[in-house]
Amino acid sequence: MAQDPPKIYVTRQLPEAALAPLRTCGTLSVWESEQAVSRETLLSELRDTVALLSMVTERIDDDLLDHAPQLRIVANMAVGYDNVDVPALTRHNIVLTNTPGVLTETTADLTFALMLGIARRIGEGERRVRAGQWPVWSPFVFLGTDIHHATLGIIGLGRIGAAVARRAQGFDMRVLYHNRGRNKEAEEQLGCTWVEMDTLLSESDFVVVLVPLGPETRQLISTPQLKKMKQTAFLVNAARGPIVDAQALYAALRDKVIAGAALDVTDPEPLPADDLLLTLDNCLVVPHVGSASIATRTRMATLAAENIAAFLSGRRPPTPVNPEVL
Ligand code: GLV
Repeated sequence: MAQDPPKIYVTRQLPEAALAPLRTCGTLSVWESEQAVSRETLLSELRDTVALLSMVTERIDDDLLDHAPQLRIVANMAVGYDNVDVPALTRHNIVLTNTPGVLTETTADLTFALMLGIARRIGEGERRVRAGQWPVWSPFVFLGTDIHHATLGIIGLGRIGAAVARRAQGFDMRVLYHNRGRNKEAEEQLGCTWVEMDTLLSESDFVVVLVPLGPETRQLISTPQLKKMKQTAFLVNAARGPIVDAQALYAALRDKVIAGAALDVTDPEPLPADDLLLTLDNCLVVPHVGSASIATRTRMATLAAENIAAFLSGRRPPTPVNPEVL
């Protein structure tokens, strides 16, 4: 007897170009909304799903897996996968894939935009103009901080960090980094210098956080670290919100322990409109848009779909996170 085609569940609308290959390898079901699918709907859809294409907004944990007896692959449309309990998936013999590489340059662009935005007070200036408070041009009005020739400290120099360091060369910046292991390629090709964390914090004019979120990086930046930074320095978080202690950051910004912060990610997300961080002019916040360009989101969706298509047709998915289950 012929087997039913495997059900593929996609938790958000995606470009048709990315979805098309999936139509030939299973029965496709797509959550047709810009809002995240509710947990209840997701669990009910997963009862007969074999392949799940998920976003960072979906929590993939043991409880979800208990509702998904047929699930064999989760293709998370993101490079980060802190929304997924990887050991749980591995225990259930389910493959997890992510989307590395395709979003590197776009995320590095946004990281640089955050640095420029906070240092040159772009958000604050724009708010003033829109409020009809254009400040009269004057030598001391709206002064910011130079990025060129400043020292950039990158915590977590991987693919995205290296792309940020490459941009920094064009701004004649000195680039320090801290990783657990050395990134020799970045040292040789981009002139980055490995330093201890404390040195990075105390010498950098811009501290950029690009590590993945995990137990050892949760609240990596809290009061002691903020106090080690220069009073004139800026913190940029383009990784995951919980890596920075939000309350400690608020106090440091309010008390001018550091000059400012620019965040693409927050804790919690979405950040409520009445969050205290949003009362501060020295804090720039954008809504988790690091990879949000049309071309890059299309590439991410395509790679996530390719992982599922490869797996369902018996090939090795191109970017597995837990290849040991293959
Ligand atoms: C987005 O945050 C990603 O991890 O790709």
